[in-house]
Amino acid sequence: MAILAPSILSADLSNLSQQIRMAEIGGADWIHCDIMDGHFVPNLTFGPILVKAARTSTKLPLDVHLMIENPDKYIGDFSKAGADTITVHQEAVVHLDRTLHMIKELGVKAGVAINPSTPVSTLEEVAEIADLILVMSVNPGFGGQRFIQNSLKKVREAAQLRKRSGAKFLIEIDGGIDNKTAEPALEAGCDVFVTGTAVFKSDNISASCAELKNIIK
Ligand code: DX5
Ligand code: ZN
Repeated sequence: MAILAPSILSADLSNLSQQIRMAEIGGADWIHCDIMDGHFVPNLTFGPILVKAARTSTKLPLDVHLMIENPDKYIGDFSKAGADTITVHQEAVVHLDRTLHMIKELGVKAGVAINPSTPVSTLEEVAEIADLILVMSVNPGFGGQRFIQNSLKKVREAAQLRKRSGAKFLIEIDGGIDNKTAEPALEAGCDVFVTGTAVFKSDNISASCAELKNIIK
């Protein structure tokens, strides 16, 4: 069963608990938290304090996506805040092997994300260490962007890498996922589907989650 991970980037943060509850009712499996620093990506969002607030609002796993420079510096803080998975960007890290081990040593699942312009082949040497590979299907920084079709090819390549290497990582897709793009992403081999705008900007958060869950089941 695929995993639905609504992103609180598009939620009404003045009602965070209630918004997460609506997503839970609709069948959300994880809650995705988009951390942006204004350097690695042009936008600024939130830090460990908000992740902690999400932690007190739900028992669902928190999937923390760090779109920040020098993530090593903050991994401990996000772990303490309650992250279950911490994903760093391949492009933001010099010693990726070390960073992924650092995350795992905290008892947190370690993910690595790649931008649309970064090939899957750059992850070949960490395939067995990573718990999750996140294929960005938009250029990171903002919700509500259009899905980049080339990402489907990259998801298939990630699935081939997993098969070839005997690795066990989950394949996550993030950006522009809605009731049209979820199905081809599922067919390409995705396990985890991040969705922001399509659920939190809809008229009915629970119904939109349920609709997506039905597509990816
Ligand atoms: C983009 C973020 C995504 C974003 C997805 O930089 O990583 O998680 O919130 O939002 P939608 O579903 O609106 O593309
Ligand atoms: Zn994200």
